[in-house]
Amino acid sequence: MAAQKKLYIKTYGCQMNVYDSERMAEAMGGSGYVRTEVAEEADMILLNTCHIREKAAEKVYSELGRMKPLKTAKPDLKIGVAGCVAQAEGQEIMRRQPMVDLVVGPQSYHRLPEMEQTVAGGAKALDTDFPVEDKFAGLASRPKAARGPSAFLTVQEGCDKFCSFCVVPYTRGAEVSRPADRIVQEARGLVEAGVRDITLLGQNVNAYHGAEGGLAGLIWQLADIDGLDRIRFTTSHPNDMDDALIAAHGDCAKLMPYLHLPVQSGSDRILKAMNRKHTAESYLALVDRLRAARPDLAMSGDFIVGFPGETDADFEDTLALVRAVGYASAFSFKYSPRPGTPAAERDQVAEAAKTERLARLQALLAEQQTAAQEAMVGKEVRVLFEKPGRMQGQIVGKSDHLMAVHATGPERLIGQIAPVRIVSAAPHSLGAELL
Ligand code: 5AD
Ligand code: SF4
Repeated sequence: MAAQKKLYIKTYGCQMNVYDSERMAEAMGGSGYVRTEVAEEADMILLNTCHIREKAAEKVYSELGRMKPLKTAKPDLKIGVAGCVAQAEGQEIMRRQPMVDLVVGPQSYHRLPEMEQTVAGGAKALDTDFPVEDKFAGLASRPKAARGPSAFLTVQEGCDKFCSFCVVPYTRGAEVSRPADRIVQEARGLVEAGVRDITLLGQNVNAYHGAEGGLAGLIWQLADIDGLDRIRFTTSHPNDMDDALIAAHGDCAKLMPYLHLPVQSGSDRILKAMNRKHTAESYLALVDRLRAARPDLAMSGDFIVGFPGETDADFEDTLALVRAVGYASAFSFKYSPRPGTPAAERDQVAEAAKTERLARLQALLAEQQTAAQEAMVGKEVRVLFEKPGRMQGQIVGKSDHLMAVHATGPERLIGQIAPVRIVSAAPHSLGAELL
């Protein structure tokens, strides 16, 4: 067997990248690599990048700049760029940063061991194809090492929606669903390794069509796995929330009462310009149906302010929609023009207006988040404890509603679901007593 080498992976962006980083590390295990958290001791560094907003790509280039001394100190160190910036920029990365040895797009990770051979021989390796073969079938099967109680599992990749602001259809490609039997098999393996909470991932996860009955069909298959207690999924498009999936929120006890359902804007004019193909009213009607199925559903969302053409009145419509829904948590961003996307070519909103709108929206969302947290005080909830807290004797985990909870309790509860009573609330964490 080859001598053990160390792989350092830095992950940017979404949860799918977190999952991909795990799978890349596993794939490189076959080439004698073990993962390290210390960049200085690595033989290979991979940056798993995000291209969703401008700053994300710029961060990658500055990180590469910071890595120069490591390469000077250790000329054999191999540096690779993976993820969506790799897909979007390709060869340009090696032009801007000649010390980069390897560039690999998100659909080619199964080819990493081969690419490692190439760079070990001193050549450069670039692969940003959208291969026809199934990346997951080509990836090493997952090792049975013990792991934490929560895990991500990618079930679908890519997107066919072409929202006019978004690079994902270009970086991740067309929508592809993994076959249900492979997903169930992977989930069983995770459960054997100690996982009790699985979040199903996809750029447009509720468009999943690899099982009869779509995503709801898959969720029902996974719900049959003994030892798997919690199922979640992210990220969804409102137009793919079908009746079966809405009903599952009421009928499937393992499907958790938390839903990330981005709307982006509350203005119909802007939604049309975004090519969202839904209205504010249809979104609100959908939220009503979901809450009829599951009254305590915690809603989360994504918002963009300052999309080209957004007026003060359009922005007020977004605030009105937020007030109507009441979000437990949310992410909000200034519109960032992405090269190659239709909206990038349009007249842009002034930066000062974007800044002011983002501050107002975030103040409202923070108020709602605080209210959602405070509403939990006095309630009995179930917490999956995940790790020791920062304070001695403390353990921390997540509630069904995906809120962070800390309690004083024994470490043997880590990996277990325990009932607690919430006794205090802060904006990002709840304090609890074990029952
Ligand atoms: N500018 C700002 N935010 C964006 N998002 C996607 N593309 C852009 C962009 N060009 C946001 C959307 C999406 C989330 C993942 O990132 O809100 O739901
Ligand atoms: Fe970033 Fe989007 Fe790619 Fe995820 S899918 S890594 S958020 S660009």
